Amino acid sequence: MGLLQDRRVLLAVSGGIAAYKSADLVRRLREAGAAVRVVMSAHAQQFITPMTLQALSGARVRSDIFDAEAEQGMGHIELARWAELVLVAPATAATLARLAHGHADDLISTLWLAAPGRKALAPAMNQQMWRAPATQRNVEQLRADGVLFFGPEEGEQACGDVGPGRLREPQALLLDLARALAPQDLRGVRVLLTAGPTQEAIDPVRYISNHSSGKMGYALAQAFADRGATVTLVSGPVALAAPVGVEVQRVQSAAQMLEAVQAGVAGQDIFVACAAVADYRPVSVAPRKLKKTENPGALMHLQLEPSTDILATVAARRPRPWVVGFAAETHDIEAYAQAKMQAKGLDMIACNDVSRSDIGFSADDNALLVLWPGGRRELATASKAHIAQGLVDTIIDVWRSKV
Ligand code: CTP
Repeated sequence: MGLLQDRRVLLAVSGGIAAYKSADLVRRLREAGAAVRVVMSAHAQQFITPMTLQALSGARVRSDIFDAEAEQGMGHIELARWAELVLVAPATAATLARLAHGHADDLISTLWLAAPGRKALAPAMNQQMWRAPATQRNVEQLRADGVLFFGPEEGEQACGDVGPGRLREPQALLLDLARALAPQDLRGVRVLLTAGPTQEAIDPVRYISNHSSGKMGYALAQAFADRGATVTLVSGPVALAAPVGVEVQRVQSAAQMLEAVQAGVAGQDIFVACAAVADYRPVSVAPRKLKKTENPGALMHLQLEPSTDILATVAARRPRPWVVGFAAETHDIEAYAQAKMQAKGLDMIACNDVSRSDIGFSADDNALLVLWPGGRRELATASKAHIAQGLVDTIIDVWRSKV
C-alpha cells in the first residue's frame, strides 16, 4: 500500500518556470499509489510538454476546455467530480487571481469551480509578486474559502531574487497531500510520544548521547495528528521541524524527558516511547569545563548511573494510557522484543532491526515488526512517513479492539 494508495488527485499545472518540477511530482504521486490526472494551462506548455506529463501520469493530459475528443473520454465536469483533491502546482499569481475571483475562463479555473472535493495551491512566483498586496488579498480570500496552501518556500529564485515564492519540493508536496487526504477518525484521541536522543551532560560543554535522528518519532506524531488526534511530542535535541499541528516540548536530558512525560501523561489515551533515551548518565556533572591540562596524560574515569526507564514508569502507572514501546535489536529480534514487552508491561512493541544499514537511525526508510499479546504484524521497508501510517493503523486497530 502506497502513502496515497488509490487516492484520486487532479494536478493542474500553471505557467511558471517551476512547472518543470511537476514531472517529478507526478512520478512521486504515481509511486505513492495515487491515480493522477493532469491538466495544464496554455502557458505551462511553454515550460514542459504535455507528452512528458502524459507518459508519467498514464492518462491523457488536457489543456483546452473546448477539446471535443477529450470531452468524449471524461468531460471536464466529470473530471472535476472524479478528483478527491485538486492541486494547482505551480500556481502563478495570475492563476491565484483567477481562482480567487471565480473566473471560469480556461480549463483550470473551470475545473476549480466545478470540483466538489478538497482544493490546494502550491504557489510559485517572484517574491515581490507574492508579497504584492493584490496577491495577498487573493491568498486571504482563498484561505477563507477553505483552500489549503502548500508553501511557498523561501529561498533563491530563478530570477535571482531571494525571498518567499519558491515551489515546495515534490516530496514535501506528497506529504502535504497525504495529510490533506487523511481520514479524521482520531478526533478526540489524545496521544503522547517521546522522540529523539537525550543528551547527558558531563560538564558544561560535553555530553553523552546517541545517533537517534528523531525521524521515526516525528513521522509518527505527524501521522497521528494528520488523522485528527491531539498530539504532544516530548523531543530530545534533533534537527527537525515540529510536525504540523503537534505540540512539541523540547528537552535535553533523560531526567527532563521523564519530568515532561510525567507532567503530561494524565488523561492521555495512548503513550508511544520512540525516544532513544540514554540508559546511563554521569553520576555528577562537573560545574566547570574539565581541563585535560590539569591532569596531563592521565586516564579519565566517568562514573555512570542508570537513568530511569520512562516507558516502564508510564506502564506501571494506574490508571495509565495504552502503552507502546520500541526495541532496537541486532539478533533474535522477536524473542528479545517479546521479553521486553513482558518485562516492561507493554501493550505493544515495535522492533527495529538495527543490524541493517538501509533502515534505522538516520536513514529515511524503516521496517518494523510489531508485536502485541496474541498478535504480530510486519511493516515492510518503506519511507518513515509510510511506516508511521502503518504503525498508527496497527496501534489504532489493536487499541480499539482492547479498550
Ligand atoms: N526507554 C525509555 N526510557 C529509558 C530507556 C528506554 O522510555 N530510560 C524506552 C525507549 O523509548 C524504547 C524502549 O524503552 O521505547 C527501549 O527499551 P530498552 O530496554 O532501552 O531497549 P534497549 O536500549 O535496546 O535495551 P537493551 O540494551 O536491553 O536491548
